[in-house]
Amino acid sequence: MYEHVNFHNNNPEFKNYRFLITGGAGFIGSHLVDYLMEHGAAEVRVVDNLSEGKIENINHWLGNSRFKFIDGSITNESLMLDALENIDFVSHQAALGSVPRSIKTPLATNEANVTGFLTMLDCARRQGVRRIVYASSSSVYGDHPQLPKVEDQIGNPLSPYAVTKRVDELYADVFGRTYGMQIIGLRYFNIFGPRQKPDGPYAAVIPLFIDAIIQEKPAYINGDGGQTRDFTFVENAVQANVRALFSENPEAPNKVYNVAVGDRISVLDIYELLRKLAGKGVDAIHREPREGDIRDSLADISKGNAYLGYFPGVKMQEGLKRTLDSFNEA
Ligand SMILES: NC(=O)c1ccc[n+]([C@@H]2O[C@H](COP(=O)([O-])OP(=O)(O)OC[C@H]3O[C@@H](n4cnc5c(N)ncnc54)[C@H](O)[C@@H]3O)[C@@H](O)[C@H]2O)c1
Repeated sequence: MYEHVNFHNNNPEFKNYRFLITGGAGFIGSHLVDYLMEHGAAEVRVVDNLSEGKIENINHWLGNSRFKFIDGSITNESLMLDALENIDFVSHQAALGSVPRSIKTPLATNEANVTGFLTMLDCARRQGVRRIVYASSSSVYGDHPQLPKVEDQIGNPLSPYAVTKRVDELYADVFGRTYGMQIIGLRYFNIFGPRQKPDGPYAAVIPLFIDAIIQEKPAYINGDGGQTRDFTFVENAVQANVRALFSENPEAPNKVYNVAVGDRISVLDIYELLRKLAGKGVDAIHREPREGDIRDSLADISKGNAYLGYFPGVKMQEGLKRTLDSFNEA
């Protein structure tokens, strides 16, 4: 879907660069792989242990001489040292997502999200990569009441998952200062789009809703559904990553940026909007509110715009339509 989109400023060196995408078989990572491969990157390597990702997401690149899939964990130091050899840029997407999962199995979340992150960071340092862009999360805002969320005002984390993403930001900051590395954190706000999984116990709300609507089964809504989110189409997240990787603004590195649209909608409204777009679907069933969830989320995206030139080109309704179409085609 990215053949006609260009976020890398026609950088003449682009076709000489080698990239490592951790978590590249997952939802967001596989879209980044597509973008980089479609624009002719010299080499794209993926490290993914397929714990959550699917080989089908990258199947179309297997066998391409510019592409290499490494089936393994980001916590494996020797594997990561090899994977990072001669790499120019790292996009770190690998992690165990989901607040409820982290409440159930905090050790596993910490292992992937903190030990894995630190292993990647230290191996990248030893291999001398040019720049790392990594996935953080809006969950780091925790209990801070301010809306919209601005990057330098965060509260206490409300889940083990939020702690891991905050720790990643702290390590990134320290590695930047201590070793002079260029590292950029992206705080994603509820990313959605094609390839996001509707199955499994920790599926996100939009693919769950679409799946239920297509099958004409009732979806479950946690609480009254009045909780709001800044839902962001995956193409906007890809844009933020690519801009962060190639920004020539000397002030851009070693900061964190919100990646969102800067608009919010309630969970109930998104369900109704999806039903309208699909032209079908039945009424949702409300159940208990979810532990660790915040009530409202909305990003201020002016920092990413000022330093990286980020702008959310795809608004929610168009993103929902494209996501719905992809689920109907699957
Ligand atoms: N999707 C969102 O709304 C959202 C919001 C905030 C932050 N994030 C973050 O963005 C990143 C990508 O999320 P996603 O939605 O694409 O999730 P995803 O689960 O589809 O992708 C993550 C990938 O990481 C892989 N992985 C997990 N542990 C690994 C390990 N130890 N070694 C190697 N690979 C491993 C999984 O197999 C999967 O392919 C994650 O860091 C996530 O925490 C996502």
